[in-house]
Amino acid sequence: MSSTASGAAKPTVTVTLDGTNRSTTLPLLSGTLGPAVADIRKLYGDLGVFTFDPGYGATASCESKITYIDGDAGVLLYRGYPIEQLAEQSDFTEVAYLLLEGELPNASQLAEFRKNVTYHTMLHEQLRRFFDGFRRDAHPMAILCGVVGALAAFYHDNLDINDARQREVAAFRLIAKVPTIAAWAYKYSIGQPFMYPRNDLSYAENFLYMLNAVPAEPYVSNPILSRAMDRILVLHADHEQNASTSTVRLAGSTGANPFACVAAGIAALWGPAHGGANEAVLKMLGEIGKPENIPEFIRQVKDKNAHTKLMGFGHRVYKNFDPRAKIMKDTCHEVLAELGIKDEPLLDMAMEMERIALEDDYFVSRKLYPNVDFYSGIILKAMGIPTHMFTVLFAVARTVGWVSQWKELIEDPAQRIGRPRQIYSGAPTRDYVAVSRRD
Ligand code: ACO
Repeated sequence: MSSTASGAAKPTVTVTLDGTNRSTTLPLLSGTLGPAVADIRKLYGDLGVFTFDPGYGATASCESKITYIDGDAGVLLYRGYPIEQLAEQSDFTEVAYLLLEGELPNASQLAEFRKNVTYHTMLHEQLRRFFDGFRRDAHPMAILCGVVGALAAFYHDNLDINDARQREVAAFRLIAKVPTIAAWAYKYSIGQPFMYPRNDLSYAENFLYMLNAVPAEPYVSNPILSRAMDRILVLHADHEQNASTSTVRLAGSTGANPFACVAAGIAALWGPAHGGANEAVLKMLGEIGKPENIPEFIRQVKDKNAHTKLMGFGHRVYKNFDPRAKIMKDTCHEVLAELGIKDEPLLDMAMEMERIALEDDYFVSRKLYPNVDFYSGIILKAMGIPTHMFTVLFAVARTVGWVSQWKELIEDPAQRIGRPRQIYSGAPTRDYVAVSRRD
């Protein structure tokens, strides 16, 4: 099969099936930014062939107006706004509005949105009892996944995905309730009383309050730590068609309710190659133990047979640097300074690993740079958040991205059920043999 792109008024790609006289001309689509995309929808009809793209590295699964990434240039935009500007000048609630609605809000729209999000922060009291069904040592991601899925059993009044108002209420409920569920999953694991949300606090402050406060003592927010949490939430809020978001979209394409779709996204996020990476970074640093062991660890990473990865390095899309990693690194220093942590061995080791890896040809030639998770784990650890909560925090932040992408999917008239094809490489057709006649 060969293909050629033409630069005529309406650009196309012509695909020719080698050895035959059959060919087809496919439209080349272009977005506002990014490379052109060959529209292969009629390829199978015209030539009888599918495309093969395991991991979807070269496939645009949908059209989206939400997030743009240029992996080579290290660019991340939410609705056109650079992540650096949003992390510096905005806050999570405003970013949530932007992702959901497409534009920055004016003052009254923002106030209304804040009110709507905070209004829904409490959980149905009966849902509280769900937590008792989990073992004390349950991973909080397991609890989060289960309880978010169970929201569909409690909020029947917004399960009609074809009703715009119901979709809106479901979005508010998810964005507002996931932090409460996440914090309660944590409190449950350490045997402390659940703290009810406080709607007078900002989104990030309230989340830290529900995680850290106890009824027996007054709680004082720390603005630097609240700001750091807010930044972590902003940086993780959306990231285009990554594995968990694609999972949410695939589940959503079947018409499943938004709570079920987000629960599916949480499950996909759990893996160490995705949201579990910051937890894995700390585990890795702990196992390396001391800086003297780094060269031996790097040797193992480079040995294909050792199956060891430098966690927090590499990204499917960013092949230059991850713009979120730089902001995280700065925030990491701010938090450690605020907490008076001068010698943090994990941070020292992380910096040393970064230095060695950035000079090593193995990493340089493969364009492997620190990703956002390389530093976020150290910040969270310094803030006293245990490692098993890291992916949960990521899920809290990403909920708004999942909900925005789900909403866009449902509102897209071109959306169809997601149904990839395959290359079948199993046995060819054969006849059944009775067990008595098998060797
Ligand atoms: N350490 C060592 N080698 C690596 C790493 C790493 N972290 N990442 C990629 N490589 C190597 C691969 O072995 C491969 O080498 P080869 O060409 O000699 O076979 C080459 O770099 C290309 O790697 P791919 O597997 O093709 O990269 P892919 O885009 O599929 O994977 C991924 C991206 C999954 C993020 C990978 O880099 C990884 O596992 N990193 C560690 C986990 C991590 O930090 N994940 C967080 C991602 S960010 C997020 O989800 C928020």
